[in-house]
Amino acid sequence: MRVYDIIRKKRDQQKLSKAEIDFFVEKYSIGEIPDYQVAALLMAIYINKMDKEETVYLTEAMMNSGEVIDLSDIDGIKVDKHSTGGVGDKTTIALAPLVAACGAPVAKMSGRGLGHTGGTLDKLEAIPGFSIEMDSKKFIDSVNEHKIAVCGQTASIAVADKKMYALRDVTATVDNISLIAASIMCKKLASGANAILLDVKTGDGAFMKTLDDSFELAKAMVDIGCGMDRETIGMITDMDEPLGFAVGNSLEVIEAIETLKGNGPKDFVLLCETLGSYMLVLAKVAKDFDEGLNMIREAITSGKALEKLRVFIENQGGDKNVVDDYTLLPQASKIIPIKSNKSGYISKIEAEEVGISAMILGAGRETKDDILDLSAGIVLEKKVGDYVNEGDILAYMHLNKEEKFEQAKERFINAYSIAEEKIEPKKLIYGVVT
Ligand code: URA
Repeated sequence: MRVYDIIRKKRDQQKLSKAEIDFFVEKYSIGEIPDYQVAALLMAIYINKMDKEETVYLTEAMMNSGEVIDLSDIDGIKVDKHSTGGVGDKTTIALAPLVAACGAPVAKMSGRGLGHTGGTLDKLEAIPGFSIEMDSKKFIDSVNEHKIAVCGQTASIAVADKKMYALRDVTATVDNISLIAASIMCKKLASGANAILLDVKTGDGAFMKTLDDSFELAKAMVDIGCGMDRETIGMITDMDEPLGFAVGNSLEVIEAIETLKGNGPKDFVLLCETLGSYMLVLAKVAKDFDEGLNMIREAITSGKALEKLRVFIENQGGDKNVVDDYTLLPQASKIIPIKSNKSGYISKIEAEEVGISAMILGAGRETKDDILDLSAGIVLEKKVGDYVNEGDILAYMHLNKEEKFEQAKERFINAYSIAEEKIEPKKLIYGVVT
């Protein structure tokens, strides 16, 4: 088999066989095919697309290019949740203890964020002492004993994806549904879950900006999961304005804790309740969505979820007292109010611009080697649909680098649109794909 023939076949709009896909993924992972040939193939795939079957073959080959984790020593059905990412997305920090408190095992491998705000691991590391490093024995023992562990994705998972993603990034071939779906799903499948819940974000701050693209991506990923015998559900949720009020690592940890205390923002609570209920159904801990929802709500009101968070933090070396004393988390030296320069109803808050503004303050990475300021970020006071008078506070910026303030503030203010007519906030949940 020659990679030249595989490139030509895709260039000529023909379907690739499983053997051809396995061949180029395997040979590329071990360095036997040069980047320039895979770049040409990726562009041919980008232009001529892959069908459902090719996409499943690609995912399987990418999954098998690295370690495939075996979680069979953990009791119960392991359900993984994946979010395609967005601004203020602190969901795992609240959802993982919530679901674990209801009896479903949570064995989660998470990533770090590039751009905007940090990823789940960055947020968890805002908790003093918290470690995301653990060997597979401790990971499995923790889930069996406490029903919860979150660790970093090892470098040995989906080796082909790392190389291909870096190549896609520089060859304008990132935004192809098959390539995105295979890239996300190969890592989820290699992480060993039995069932997968996908939170596909849509809107300004999301990877997928339109509803049609978001549904298409969700469908492609659900097809892959089901094609590989994992029960998979996709939810399409809003990321047009930031999720909740807090954007920034330490600030998002506080918001997640407040949510487990019953004081969460409306949109974030609804998201956690909905995702949590589906996870309990997938884990076969609840017989249907409504039973799952009752369990999730009870875990909050009884304090069980908050207690599970303490256990989770302590088990991973963190200081569980942060749950009751937020001053133990990284604190910014300056908190500056940002005021509205206009009166009216907030009609839009561009999530991406808010994310970039928080990144300028230090909450996110511009390049992958940037060091985060875990205390930096933004706490919104107003969301879409709220009325503001000129001079009212829109948000507070938390920062240490004063020299970054003006640049961050300008981007932040420009993210807001204010209109005379009241605008209803967008729906949070647009649909479910099964
Ligand atoms: N996230 C991934 O892991 N891969 C993609 O291709 C896009 C988003």
